[in-house]
Amino acid sequence: MSSISLDIVIGAGSAIGRALIEIWSGEGAQRILAVARSADSLAVVEQLGVQTHQCDYSEAALAALAIQLQEQSADISRLVICNGVLQGEGYRPERALNQLKTSAMEQVFEINTFLPMRVLASLAPVLKRSAAPRIAVLSARVGSIGDNGLGGWYSYRGSKAALNMMLRCAALEMRRVNPAAKIMAYHPGTVDTPLSQPFQANVAPEKLFSPARAAKALDTVLASLEADGELSYLDWRGESIPW
Ligand SMILES: NC(=O)c1ccc[n+]([C@@H]2O[C@H](COP(=O)([O-])OP(=O)(O)OC[C@H]3O[C@@H](n4cnc5c(N)ncnc54)[C@H](OP(=O)(O)O)[C@@H]3O)[C@@H](O)[C@H]2O)c1
Repeated sequence: MSSISLDIVIGAGSAIGRALIEIWSGEGAQRILAVARSADSLAVVEQLGVQTHQCDYSEAALAALAIQLQEQSADISRLVICNGVLQGEGYRPERALNQLKTSAMEQVFEINTFLPMRVLASLAPVLKRSAAPRIAVLSARVGSIGDNGLGGWYSYRGSKAALNMMLRCAALEMRRVNPAAKIMAYHPGTVDTPLSQPFQANVAPEKLFSPARAAKALDTVLASLEADGELSYLDWRGESIPW
């Protein structure tokens, strides 16, 4: 059976993901698969002619997606995982130890760490067989332990640091099972999206990127990646971030 080359955006309802789909759709919309929780988010990108898949990111739903891709003999050429939260219903980024709540920590780790790893775990059989998959997972500079001079944002920082460690494991595994694969933990800069909106007051206008600009930078950095069996932790300029 001949294989179908596919670019997949998980978390396609995110502002950065949507902007990336807009760029990629100019190269051929039919080879893009947009995955998101809500039909409304998918309706927006459907207008660009891309394939869509509604998903609650449960193990069962992701397993079904993986089976569908295997049945199509999909060859994943680019995979970008955008999901992430900084705050949610009833919780905000913690500034002090006495603000830590287990339920909030669990939710942030669930979305920022476990969800992307569930996606990679589910799609691993497809990624193993793909010719040269380029994988970007949206992390954040504040997930850097070395770069953390300010403290605060315990759950967000911790969940992205944990994500980076698990991605490192995945990159080392991929080195064995598909040496042509490449994984990157990515910092998009500060981007004008619902996630950053409540925290933009102290950001200089020239340092606040539009989603379109952020997507262009992500596309450029992703295209520059070489399969070297390592996890790269890069920012929007393509520069390494200390672990
Ligand atoms: N904006 C920034 O300044 C900035 C800076 C550094 C890092 N990042 C990272 O970039 C990524 C994209 O962020 P964005 O700024 O584009 O955010 P956004 O527009 O607010 O998008 C939020 C994303 O998180 C997902 N999400 C939210 N709640 C969820 C839940 N309960 N269950 C599953 N998924 C959920 C959404 O999935 P659906 O598409 O399925 O709805 C969507 O993909 C995040 O990982 C973020 O940490 C952003």
